[in-house]
Parts: sequence; structure tokens; C-alpha cells
Amino acid sequence: MSSTTPRRRLNINNINPHIKAAKYAVRGELAVKSEEYRSYLQGGLTDLPFDQVISANIGNPQQLDQKPITFFRQVLSLLENPTLLSHEDVLLNQLGYKPDVLERARRLLKSVGSVGAYSASNGVPAIRQSIAKFLEERDGFPANKADIYLSAGASSGVNTLLHVLCADENSGILVPIPQYPLYTASLAVLNAKCVPYLLDEARNWGTDLATIKEANEKAKAEGIDVRAIVIINPGNPTGASLPEEDIRAVIDYAQQEHLVILADEVYQTNVFVGEFISFKRMLRQLQKENPGKYDCVELASLHSVSKGMVGECGHRGGYFELVNFDPEVQAEIYKFVSIMLCAPVIGQCLVELMVNPPKPGEPSHDLYRKEYDGIFNGLKERAMALHKAFEQMEGVECGSPQGSMYLFPTINLSPKAAEAAAQEGRTADEFYCMCMLEATGVCVVPGSGFGQKEGSLHFRTTFLAPGTEWVGSIIKFHQEFMGKYR
Ligand SMILES: Cc1ncc(COP(=O)(O)O)c(C=O)c1O
Repeated sequence: MSSTTPRRRLNINNINPHIKAAKYAVRGELAVKSEEYRSYLQGGLTDLPFDQVISANIGNPQQLDQKPITFFRQVLSLLENPTLLSHEDVLLNQLGYKPDVLERARRLLKSVGSVGAYSASNGVPAIRQSIAKFLEERDGFPANKADIYLSAGASSGVNTLLHVLCADENSGILVPIPQYPLYTASLAVLNAKCVPYLLDEARNWGTDLATIKEANEKAKAEGIDVRAIVIINPGNPTGASLPEEDIRAVIDYAQQEHLVILADEVYQTNVFVGEFISFKRMLRQLQKENPGKYDCVELASLHSVSKGMVGECGHRGGYFELVNFDPEVQAEIYKFVSIMLCAPVIGQCLVELMVNPPKPGEPSHDLYRKEYDGIFNGLKERAMALHKAFEQMEGVECGSPQGSMYLFPTINLSPKAAEAAAQEGRTADEFYCMCMLEATGVCVVPGSGFGQKEGSLHFRTTFLAPGTEWVGSIIKFHQEFMGKYR
């Protein structure tokens, strides 16, 4: 090649190798293929064996017809276009906006100025104050707005925290398996060590302290500097909602082992069985019961507008709260978030609306409640219906739905299916999910995308999609698949 031949500076072999190493199955090969099918169908192609693609691979509620909550969108519309506020009569009498919508928009605009302007790096102070009040009411313990950082969804908060936690390639983070792949992917990008610990499927995917200890001890013996433990509660992909004793045990172990706790609590309102218990509440409770002992247990807990009944993941709003952190470390975290300037301001406003929704007696409350409960009950009903379908399917085992937006059944496939998968260079669960997509248009994620106990196979599906037709098509596909590979 002559020295003048033009060539690009970047190629697949010279970019950051840690980006190449990261895996994110939620939007992997199956998702890409499902989008191709979607565009064929939109283009009028009719030789596919299905007439719609169901994206059950990702917790993206409004893509699957979940309606936005009216109060939220009405306030946001005024924040985006404040001149509407000078047409109060039209808003109230023609568009059905209630007075509290206008009042909230005016209040937020006073705090924010314009949603088109950068805010403080850690978020608008008045919004952090609202979050602190919400946390106090939720947990029964004080919260301080100085410890709250708004983020572009919880993902950006996780990214910040992992950047600060991982000092070098020997830094290790305990990550549940199965897990939402944000954690393993971010650790791969940071070139830090993921220290996997298995969740206990037999106990509804709870945390098993003996397993956590074993994973930690093994990593330490290998010389890894284990610094933190990630807990996803309620779980993704498992849907598990942790009982109080599991949470206490994790905090106690973190105290003994000097581990920072990263509590990913984005599904905190998606709980069907029992109640959501926050790590903050439990940590403060333990501090109260044992003066001094837990005062240095560092906890970062995350929340988001993406999930729950809000489902506004496109708006990229979230926050994290730091508990018991060293002020000098907090100052560095502040500096780190300031490098990205601030979280999207409209997303921050949505966080405010989420944590401070209309109260009983306020004009927008009844509709808000009706919409919120409607979404909650719809999700619960769909989760139960899907679970019932799995119960009928040969070789499929699935614990009853507890929370979040997912079911994660075990699939027992025959050696013949495993052989057919190997011939295509796929794992058996990937093969099963690919066959399901090709036959039904339903896109789910193979368990291997989240990690699973060796020798076990799963897939994850959301229960967000409306209707029952797609569930029927999974049952039919499964029967045929099992018959073909018997
Ligand atoms: C456990 C968990 N954490 C974080 C996220 C990211 O959420 P966000 O949209 O707030 O970035 C998700 C998204 O699915 C999730 O499941």
C-alpha cells in the first residue's frame, strides 16, 4: 500500500479494547434482528409467520403502549413552553389542565429558570430538596439534599459511582448473577474486575450470604481488591423483592468486609408481593439499633423515572443518594458529575414530579391515582397471566411474580436442542430465543446475557406488552420446539 493511500485512523483492532470487551445482550443480536423484522413488516413484507414484533427484551414501558401519566406530561408541557401559562383560561377551560398543574409548573420554573439552561452539576437545589423530603417520608429517617445527585437515568449514576469506586484494574465489585448487564459492561469498559456472586433461585432469587462470602473470599485470595457489592432490589432480571433479613445480612456483611453498597432500587414501586424495603431505611435502622457500629457503611442508592408506573425512560431522569460517605470523596464525585455539566433538566423536573405527585384533595389527584393504579394492576395481571402460561409449558419452571417488570423462567432443553445450537455456534438458550423470535416475532433475552448458574438455562421476558395473543404464540412455539428436538 502506498503511503498516500487514504485510510481511516480507527479500525476495530485499535479502538479502546475495553469497549470491544463489553457485552450488553439487552440490545444484542436478537434485538437487532427484531428491529429488522419490524422494518420488513412496516415495509409491507408479509412472508413472515407473524404480523407484529413484540419487544419483550427491554423494560421500555411506553414503547409497549403504557400511557404517560397525565399530570406529569401536563406540567412538562408548560415547562417546555412557559408562554402557555399566559393563556390560563385556555389551559383550564379548554384543555382540562387543573390549577395544581399550573401552580407546579410556575413553582418549578421559578426554581429552574429555563429547562433549556444547565442546572447546578448535582441538580436543581429545590428538586434535591423535594427528593430529600420524599426519602424522609419513605424511610422515616432524615435525608439531606447535599447528599443527592441528579443523573441522566440511573445508568449515568451507576457509571459515575463505578468510575469513582474503581481505582485500577485490580479493583473488584461484587455483582449478582444473574444481573442487569449495565454492571458487567461498565466494569469491562473500566477494565476493573467483576466478582460474580450467584443469587439463590430456589429461594425466589434471594441473596445467599454464604455464596456472597465464598465469592468475596475467592476474589480476595486471588489478590483482587474487592470494594463494593451491587444489589438490585427488586431484581432485574429475576423480579425478586428482597426480604428484610436478606437486606440486614448484606449490610452486616458489608460492615464486616468494608464494602460499599450500591443499591439499585429503580423498581421500588414495582412490587407485587410484600413491601419494598430500602437499603437506606435498613442501614439507618441498624445504625439506630447498634450505635457507632454501622456509621462507616457507605451506601449509594439509585432511583429513576424510567420504571415503576412513571415509565418515562426516554426522559433520562434519575438520582442517587449517598449515605455515610467521606466529604472529600463526595467532593470528587461532585467534580466528576460536573465534568458532564448536569443531568437533563426536563428529566430532573420529572424526578420532582415522581417524588412529589398530586396529594389527596388536590385537583389532579384523582386522575393521577386512577392512572397509577391502572398501570400497576395491568402489570400485575399481565405478570400473573404470563406466569400461568409458563406453568403450562413443558420443561419450564418459573417462581411466582414478585416485582420489577420481568419473569426469568428456567428452560430445560434436550441434548438434541443443545446439539442444534452448537451447530449454529450458539448457546442453547440463545438458540431457543432466536427460534422463538423467528417463529413468533417475540423478542426475549437469553439467560446467558445476564449470567446464570453453570448448566442452567433461562430467558428473560418483560410482561409489559398488552394483549394475550403474543403469550399464546410463545406457548405454541414452545410446544413445537420441544417436539422437534425431543
Ligand atoms: C436494574 C436496572 N438498573 C438501572 C437501569 C437503567 O435505568 P435508567 O433508564 O434509569 O438509566 C435499568 C434499566 O432497565 C435496570 O433494569
